[in-house]
Amino acid sequence: LAAQIIDGKKIADGIKDGLTHEIAVLKTKGIIPGLAVIMVGDDPASKKYVASKEKTCANLGISSFHYGLPATVSQKELLELVDKLNNEKKVSGILLQLPLPGGLKEKEAMNLISPDKDVDGFGPVSLGRLIMDEPVFIPCTPHGVMKMLESCEIDPAGKHAVVVGRSIIVGKPLSLLLLRKNATVTICHSRTPNLKEICASADILCAAAGRAGIITADMVRKGCTVIDVGINIISSGKIVGDVDFESVKEKASFISPVPGGVGPMTIAMLMHNTVIAARIQAGSLT
Ligand code: GUN
Repeated sequence: LAAQIIDGKKIADGIKDGLTHEIAVLKTKGIIPGLAVIMVGDDPASKKYVASKEKTCANLGISSFHYGLPATVSQKELLELVDKLNNEKKVSGILLQLPLPGGLKEKEAMNLISPDKDVDGFGPVSLGRLIMDEPVFIPCTPHGVMKMLESCEIDPAGKHAVVVGRSIIVGKPLSLLLLRKNATVTICHSRTPNLKEICASADILCAAAGRAGIITADMVRKGCTVIDVGINIISSGKIVGDVDFESVKEKASFISPVPGGVGPMTIAMLMHNTVIAARIQAGSLT
């Protein structure tokens, strides 16, 4: 029996519908959420993500402010922009699209984003709050994964969740969120020798390694829930996940596709965080 496909686009549409209503109510109080998007350089994948985020802002009634900087921008100029946006009233949230071109210090720039505007949730205050189980802004992609599990009524409690990948953007925060929901969590990475055995014992397998097809059917237990966080452009130009979808879907009970899985969820949760930021700054949420 083939797995049930987790329709990330549909779940994201539901979340965005809820936000549209919330944004309309905020507008009656004179509150308009605003997202500043800083895009440095011209990495094609990043440009595509950024365009998608800005389009969603427009559809939902969130103002977006685009700051396209050349790859040659100095660290000082980048920091000055972040500082300016921290103090800009119309800007509820600041998104610094990563990765930054070589030469720029990503952490220093991220750390300067005001914790009240850190809608990506990657800054030290946001990550500290997450580890202390008092999150304000949950990183968007991991939050999206949790919402997907919730919408399929998959409760991580007592289950073995395996996360492949340990990035700040996905692996680390996702592991913490699964732990918060009482899963037993194993984090695997490029130096894990017995990746196959560990994955094969997962009840929930989250692939966030950024390597096309790294998860094959022999690594997946029958009935496992498989969430594919990978977005890889292969030589044919096609976008594929980290999971060999065609073979794995025959063994899993639930599986998320790429595209149409986690991607739309990330954007929906970014919009969610931007609305929370606007409410915090308006004093209508603590
Ligand atoms: N690069 C890849 N994913 C993300 C994300 O969620 N936020 C930012 N800022 N950069 C990214």
